[in-house]
Amino acid sequence: MTTLDLNDPDFVADPYPVYAWLRDVEPVHYSAANDLWLVSRYDDVLAVLRDAPGFSSDLGKAGLDDNPFNPAIRIPRRLARLLDRLPPVRTLLTSDPPHHTQLRRKVAKAFTPRRIAALEPRIREITERLVDDLDDDLVRDVASPLPTIVIAELMGIPADRRDDFKRWSDELVNGLLTGGSRIRMARSALAVSWFFARTVRSRRHRPGGDVISLLVTRDQDGDALTLAELVNFCILLLVAGNETTTNLVSNAMLALFDRPDLWRRLGTDPDLAPAVVEETLRYDGPAQGLLRVTTAEVRIGDVTVPEGARVLPLTGSANRDPRHWADPDAFRLDRPAGDHIAFGSGIHYCIGTALARLETRIVLETLARRHPHLGPAGVPERIQSPVLRGLRTLPVTIRPTVPG
Ligand code: HEM
Repeated sequence: MTTLDLNDPDFVADPYPVYAWLRDVEPVHYSAANDLWLVSRYDDVLAVLRDAPGFSSDLGKAGLDDNPFNPAIRIPRRLARLLDRLPPVRTLLTSDPPHHTQLRRKVAKAFTPRRIAALEPRIREITERLVDDLDDDLVRDVASPLPTIVIAELMGIPADRRDDFKRWSDELVNGLLTGGSRIRMARSALAVSWFFARTVRSRRHRPGGDVISLLVTRDQDGDALTLAELVNFCILLLVAGNETTTNLVSNAMLALFDRPDLWRRLGTDPDLAPAVVEETLRYDGPAQGLLRVTTAEVRIGDVTVPEGARVLPLTGSANRDPRHWADPDAFRLDRPAGDHIAFGSGIHYCIGTALARLETRIVLETLARRHPHLGPAGVPERIQSPVLRGLRTLPVTIRPTVPG
């Protein structure tokens, strides 16, 4: 294999054989088609993610704003200037220390495990309602609406704006990752920026119990987020949290459909759900690769990578590396907890882990209890992205199939 193109539909359909080849033959591989250095072994991926000074997340600095692998959404520059009369702001995901450290300290308070655990009864209620209305597509009817409704409620967005909210989120993600319309994406970025700017302003005057109100209040050091930082963070929550959680549910269900025994056991023993969630994150995680830029020439394994190079640590490959995992291609519930790197590692470690785990666990428990005969009913449609792994549709039937 001399040229590897991550946008090749065969790779997108099943990247795991290619990962195995990369790990064995060229663990640090330069893809000319994508102008990306692919890092595929567990230890190397971890080393890249934990070396923030050597591997920058500030893709704007490297002129990568328009890159399809750039998972960042930024509010339009003119709007950011207008909002704060400041230079354009970076998002949490695409900034380096010291800016990242300050920003993360300010926003982390909104996502503590305690705050998230308190949401469980409400997430159960929403999930039961969605499962009541489950018709023939699990993504459309349950996996996709749930995270959007939950994050909208967390932010205190009125129910009558949910449809706009969902549309903006979809168009932003589509435009970024799957080659959807750039014009629609820009329009959505503008609409969502204005919407959040107005919401932030009104929360400053009349705070409530929601996440935006929490973020507009000053912390103990008297520090507050600027309006543009707040708007950017709200957009990041939409983009980073919705599609990924939807995909975790769909990837888990695909794995379970292949293992009917496990599905039946889950129906009678909901305590298995957390282990199913963790193993799905390892076995077929929603985020397969993360983007970094080298700040100086650097050695990764035996390979020298130049300064300013775009590096893609493949978390999806690391999580199947036989140098780290016994029997890596098997779906097993007895693995050590917390060892996979599906949520990243180091300073950018996902802030939404507790929420994503909680939502996915509740969906799996609810479906297995209420629909023990749930099964696939046609060919699912896959999202055409090399870094975001999941399904656009998952046709299902909720009745037992009658033979003949
Ligand atoms: C960061 C994955 C759900 C918010 C990350 C990163 C990964 C990730 C891999 C690290 C990115 C990097 O190092 O460049 C996932 C997966 C999810 C999920 C697989 C679902 C299964 C969520 C949710 C939220 C969220 C529900 C919030 C509501 C964030 C934010 C960051 C982040 C704000 C940036 C953190 C930082 O840069 O310091 N996520 N995520 N994520 N995630 Fe998640």
